[in-house]
Amino acid sequence: MNDFSMLAHKRRSIRDFEDRSVQESLLKEIITESCLAPNAQNSQPWNFIIVHNRSLIRKLSDESKKNILERIDADPGTSLKKYQEILKIEEFNVFYNAPCLIYVAGPRQVRSLQVDCALWACYFMLSAASRGLGSCWVDLGADIRDPQLLKEIGLPQGYRIVAPIIVGYPKRIPAPPERNTPRVLKIVS
Ligand SMILES: Cc1cc2nc3c(=O)[nH]c(=O)nc-3n(C[C@H](O)[C@H](O)[C@H](O)COP(=O)(O)O)c2cc1C
Repeated sequence: MNDFSMLAHKRRSIRDFEDRSVQESLLKEIITESCLAPNAQNSQPWNFIIVHNRSLIRKLSDESKKNILERIDADPGTSLKKYQEILKIEEFNVFYNAPCLIYVAGPRQVRSLQVDCALWACYFMLSAASRGLGSCWVDLGADIRDPQLLKEIGLPQGYRIVAPIIVGYPKRIPAPPERNTPRVLKIVS
């Protein structure tokens, strides 16, 4: 296996972390390296909010849970419905008590914002894994609306959170969830 194959096999979504913080300098190194990700027109619309404060991370989890539950009530046909029961559990922290949370966000009007930030996030998760860190993209933690909380995390007006990513030292690395055989629709020669 080459380096990339090993890394691709090694990276897993981590939801169980050691009680140990991640050094700011290491995080910045990974964030910077991940900015090498491809992005439309090299516009690099990604911005980062780094939260090390566990009680704030908990508050953000509660806020996102509340908002998603409201969305489910308003639209029972939504695909989010399958998370309703777990989101109702008070102790459930969507961020799995991780020591650090990074929000990747950018200006709403950038057409490629979601794709660019997702590519950045993919690089970030691989780069973190290459350094022995674990991470997980947690979409259930993206729905932050409370103006006070938005102010506290410093999300500028007109910006949208694309990817909440938790990061820390893994306590346990799960086996890879099975992947389907690639569906090649057609080979045209
Ligand atoms: C866009 C996106 C949203 C995700 N949201 C969540 C989430 O809210 N909670 C969670 O535990 N995992 C979340 N995940 C992680 C996936 O469940 C995980 O990537 C998938 O099960 C495959 O496992 P692996 O990453 O270990 O290969 C998300 C992943 C992506 C890419």
